[in-house]
Amino acid sequence: MLSREDNEILTRVGPGTPMGSLLRRYWMPACLSAEIPEPDGPPVRVRLLGENLVAFRDSAGAIGLIEEECPHRGASLFFGRNEECGLRCTYHGWKFDVTGQCTDQRSELHSFAHKIKITSYPVHESGGIVWAYLGPAASMTPFRDFGTGTLPAASVTAVKEVVRCNWVQSMDGDLDTAHISNLHQFDAIDDVPDDGTDRPGYPSGYMSMKFWRHDPRAAIEVQDEWHGFRYAGIRVTPNGYRHARVTAYIFPASTIIAQIPFSTRQIFVVPVDDYHTHRYSFAVTPPANPRGLGGPPFFTFEKYPFEMLPPGGVVERKYTPENDYLIDRVAQKGISYSGIADFRSQDMMATESAGPIYDRTREHLGSTDVAVIRLHRMLLRAAKGLASGEEPPALRGDFRAIRGAEKVLAEGEDWRALGTDEDPVVAEALLSLEAAGEAGEAAH
Ligand code: FES
Ligand SMILES: [Fe+2]
Repeated sequence: MLSREDNEILTRVGPGTPMGSLLRRYWMPACLSAEIPEPDGPPVRVRLLGENLVAFRDSAGAIGLIEEECPHRGASLFFGRNEECGLRCTYHGWKFDVTGQCTDQRSELHSFAHKIKITSYPVHESGGIVWAYLGPAASMTPFRDFGTGTLPAASVTAVKEVVRCNWVQSMDGDLDTAHISNLHQFDAIDDVPDDGTDRPGYPSGYMSMKFWRHDPRAAIEVQDEWHGFRYAGIRVTPNGYRHARVTAYIFPASTIIAQIPFSTRQIFVVPVDDYHTHRYSFAVTPPANPRGLGGPPFFTFEKYPFEMLPPGGVVERKYTPENDYLIDRVAQKGISYSGIADFRSQDMMATESAGPIYDRTREHLGSTDVAVIRLHRMLLRAAKGLASGEEPPALRGDFRAIRGAEKVLAEGEDWRALGTDEDPVVAEALLSLEAAGEAGEAAH
């Protein structure tokens, strides 16, 4: 449970709020590269941390992220003409370059364009995402490279989904392994044949689902790290082994969720404003699993009953609060736990239905919520710390070495080593990538 005051600090992100100020110290996704693919193409609206902005790619390919409102008399620059290295307001023709500088006032008798400059934020394009820095210029730190800086173009995948609730609610779901034993359950998991991987080592993705179903009482263990923390949900398998799903939290708003044998794909939860969130999911390394550990992903199981849309670009919402996420009460009795046919919409139902900003004075936290509690505590401490002059955490470091993982543990095996540079399965993957890189170079 949080006090009303702490819940306000935790959730509000507008300019001048403690959390808004903290988040503005980090580079954040502003839009997908694919939303502004071409020079002089249509600009897009970007609402970020409660600010209304417009992103555009100018004639030279440079990206501008500027405030939406024209400083003349307020028309939206979203409707502007993107031409000759600038965005021109169509009301009276004032024009702005990517730095926000007014470069032309075609309707004025005596141009004072040089005196007019609107807010523009620094951007950095990487991994299919246009990242932006909305904080004070003097405090700007280098772009945090999660791996996208060297990601080959063929491996770039970035996805953006909108969630209609506060960003912390959406984060909470990502740091909550317990819910997969409930929300995402379906009865046909019982029909997954035992393929012999319920033993120490890497289980198949299909068997992993069985473990989620078998033990709904995951024990949660948290390990603090320089970048935030990693935590494990530990379940007892049907054969009595300990199965660990390890998820990494990267301060302030991203996670790398557990996967067999280890994971690098990141989810960055970006506050649009206090009541809406964009979830960006993106690759940071080429796929590397030379022995195919885990086999096919769980959602390829022939009796898997849910939609698992291959995501790409800006995802359209079909399952919404207005249509009750198309809940099928018959399916809920006989097929699936939630009755909602799309996997990610199950998460959205759970997080959105708690309200635009969940009132955490009303919550009753239990043993499954240890990671969520740690998240809130870290965020609150950093937001209050920044307000009293402390440097925010995780601004610098080797972000490419952060991974999630999943494995059935051997006797005495510590989950904390899984997915680290010391994990043999990681070394094996890195070697295979290196070999593939060399082969690629030789082919040139
Ligand atoms: S309102 Fe934009 S030029 Fe007049
Ligand atoms: Fe989920």
